[in-house]
Amino acid sequence: MMIRIILIVITIFYSSIIFGDVVKEGKKLTFDRKKGNCLACHMIDDGELAGNIGPPLIAMKARFPDREVLFQKIWDPTQGDPNTFMPPFGKHGALTVDEINKIMEYLYTL
Ligand code: HEC
Repeated sequence: MMIRIILIVITIFYSSIIFGDVVKEGKKLTFDRKKGNCLACHMIDDGELAGNIGPPLIAMKARFPDREVLFQKIWDPTQGDPNTFMPPFGKHGALTVDEINKIMEYLYTL
């Protein structure tokens, strides 16, 4: 019994560390001028020198409850609006699926 509780506590502890790292990596990719460079157009949390061409990225969980929708928006925004200013990061190979998923983990904390 005791050993089971200890194992559960350890599992929760480690998964929260791993999860925290993913969010941190996602934030780095989001802010990196050579990667997501999302700040060029979006106001995001504590990001500096943010642009305002795109809408501020806030309340993401409430506004994008469907992960697929958010993923598609970053992978290829031209799907929803062929004239959008936002670059198709996935389609153009600027970001990988893995990188977009990390960015999304960060965005969902906003
Ligand atoms: C060159 C400017 C530009 C860059 C860089 C850019 N975006 Fe956008 N983004 C826009 C514009 C303009 C819109 C609004 C029009 C649209 O929805 O396509 C938008 C819309 C969005 C939306 C929908 C927001 C809403 O409220 O509907 C999300 C989510 C988003 N961008 C995420 C990102 C992420 C994540 C990055 C970085 C990987 C990024 N954008 C980089 C210009 C940009």
